[in-house]
Amino acid sequence: MSGRLLSSLPGTELAAAFSRAIRLAQKGPRSANPRVGALLILPSGDTVEGWHRGAGTPHAEADALDRARAAGHDPRGGTMIVTLEPCAHSGRTPSCARGLIDAGVTACLFAHADPTERAGGGADLLRADGITALTWVDAVAHTDHASTPGDAAAAKSLTADAQRLNDRWMRAQAERRPFVTAKIAQTLDGFTAAPDGTSQWITSHEARAAGHRLRAHVDAIAVGTGTLIADDPRLSARTPAGDAAHQPLRVVIGQRPVPEGSAVIGADGRFVHLATRDLPAALTQLRREHGVEHLLIDGGPTLIGAALAADLIDDLWVHIEPTLLGAGRPSVLGLNPSTLTDRLDFDADAPEIHGTTVTIHARPRPAAPQADTAGTPDRKDV
Ligand SMILES: NC(=O)c1ccc[n+]([C@@H]2O[C@H](COP(=O)([O-])OP(=O)(O)OC[C@H]3O[C@@H](n4cnc5c(N)ncnc54)[C@H](OP(=O)(O)O)[C@@H]3O)[C@@H](O)[C@H]2O)c1
Repeated sequence: MSGRLLSSLPGTELAAAFSRAIRLAQKGPRSANPRVGALLILPSGDTVEGWHRGAGTPHAEADALDRARAAGHDPRGGTMIVTLEPCAHSGRTPSCARGLIDAGVTACLFAHADPTERAGGGADLLRADGITALTWVDAVAHTDHASTPGDAAAAKSLTADAQRLNDRWMRAQAERRPFVTAKIAQTLDGFTAAPDGTSQWITSHEARAAGHRLRAHVDAIAVGTGTLIADDPRLSARTPAGDAAHQPLRVVIGQRPVPEGSAVIGADGRFVHLATRDLPAALTQLRREHGVEHLLIDGGPTLIGAALAADLIDDLWVHIEPTLLGAGRPSVLGLNPSTLTDRLDFDADAPEIHGTTVTIHARPRPAAPQADTAGTPDRKDV
């Protein structure tokens, strides 16, 4: 059923290769693009690593093939082990399925299918060309070596790990909405505007520049009508030299009308007012009608709070300025917890420093696979 190399690999060695592919995927940046790792096992037994470094860069399989060729290896007859099904479509980068066919690999083992309509189906393309294309679980079950129940369990657990690499991306795809990033600029005591509504500027010049770099990477930027009315923002991406080359679609969400002459309207026709508070509908509309795959919600506190309450934020940037206001508009409104366990937990990267501002990049913490059985903490632990 498979190439010579695949049949020569026992289940335990496959599990080690799957695990290495996951570690490679973890090297990629967390963004609206899936993190993917690939390990090319050559007929000689040599291995070549690849991973995806973010939007517009080679996919993991292409990276591994490029590195193999650069090192003087011939990929023909190799087995590609990858954390996500090779894509079937050509976009900013060529189709990975086509790249594997052209490279002459004989087998491709992927953790799970690509859930997107655009890119899914790569495994079928490979099979149509006579290449063995199996999920990790099927590969262990079908290896010519006797695989043990332990091998099967390891393949299943590693598949779950590979899915967890991109849990929020997978969720956005399943909900047919854009991947949603939110950005907050706040004081040390959690205020995003002073009592009179002024908020320009809370954070340092350097933090605002980082915010503009983020804007230049997304397809659209949204604010609520509250921010529109308070700040009259342009919602453009700017660099020290002027407007960035890529300008996202400008979006206002909320039922109040957009005042005539608002800066956000612009002159280029790239402005949309979604006169609704139904966020899931607004998000699917942005993707369906405007092709938005990555949306940045740039405030304010009511819109971000509503999106958090609906579990629609996949990625969060919080810029914290070491300054105190003591009163004002909190950075998030509308969560309404009644007790500590109502909180929303996030996993954060190491903080970044931008000038005087501390920046936290975080994402919603995935639900624990099992219930916490540790019990109520002893009073002394509190
Ligand atoms: N420091 C920062 O990073 C930052 C960033 C942005 C804003 N701000 C500050 O935030 C203040 C504005 O706060 P804000 O909370 O009024 O602004 P907001 O969150 O931008 O807008 C709130 C409005 O969003 C609309 N909306 C859309 N979907 C909603 C939903 N599902 N649930 C509730 N509302 C929804 C509602 O408008 P309708 O009533 O029209 O339906 C609501 O009144 C200003 O002072 C501004 O300067 C600070």
